[in-house]
Amino acid sequence: MIKVIKVKDQVEGGKKALEIFSEAKNNGVRVFGLATGSTPVTTYEQLVKSDLDFSNDISVNLDEYVGLSKDNPQSYAYYMHEHLFKHKPFKHSYLPNGMAKDSSLECQRYNQILEDNHVGLQLLGIGRNGHIGFNEPGTDINEKTHRVALTPSTIEANARFFEDENEVPKYAYSMGIGSIMNADAILLEAFGKKKAQAVKAMIDGEVTPDVPASILQKHPNVTVIVDEEAGGLL
Ligand code: GLP
Repeated sequence: MIKVIKVKDQVEGGKKALEIFSEAKNNGVRVFGLATGSTPVTTYEQLVKSDLDFSNDISVNLDEYVGLSKDNPQSYAYYMHEHLFKHKPFKHSYLPNGMAKDSSLECQRYNQILEDNHVGLQLLGIGRNGHIGFNEPGTDINEKTHRVALTPSTIEANARFFEDENEVPKYAYSMGIGSIMNADAILLEAFGKKKAQAVKAMIDGEVTPDVPASILQKHPNVTVIVDEEAGGLL
């Protein structure tokens, strides 16, 4: 069941998300699945300003680019440090290691982390083609953490964070759809016109690997926060 919350804009969306994080903490959630990209920025701003204390909690991130170290400003580890962890430290924060030498060992390591730390609340954004994490259209819905070849549309969409499109990594590690669906509750946020089509397909379309986010229709506890533009086709 997908519950939709419509808000005016991304700032209001961040405030709503803070309420959901606070409620989760009050209900005893201790493991938070986190996401990157431009979408959760206002959520992290709100978390940082709040009096929530995560110092006894665990975070596990969805994905990381292959080949980028945590000191690289384009890496998701760097992003998380800047937007959240340096202001609100967790007891442990896990991300896939973009510099791992052996990708299958890295996926195994991350799957073990997810087994040891069952996610209570998973935050998600959505790609313009309906991807979640880096699970591109066509991904097996049972998949756990895997190494993904990014599609041209994702590379192009993420090029805005890099000086040159050629610098955008071509591969990433991502929690699989199976790992994401394991979370007790999921909070997906989408803001802006460019997300409207994907949001519509996720909520009202058929459940299909062509729109990875549509699988969320099968999860028992999903909340979607959209602004007026992203929710414009609903
Ligand atoms: C990236 C990330 C996703 C994110 C999506 C949307 O590809 N791997 O986790 O949800 O793009 O990004 P943005 O929030 O910047 O629109």
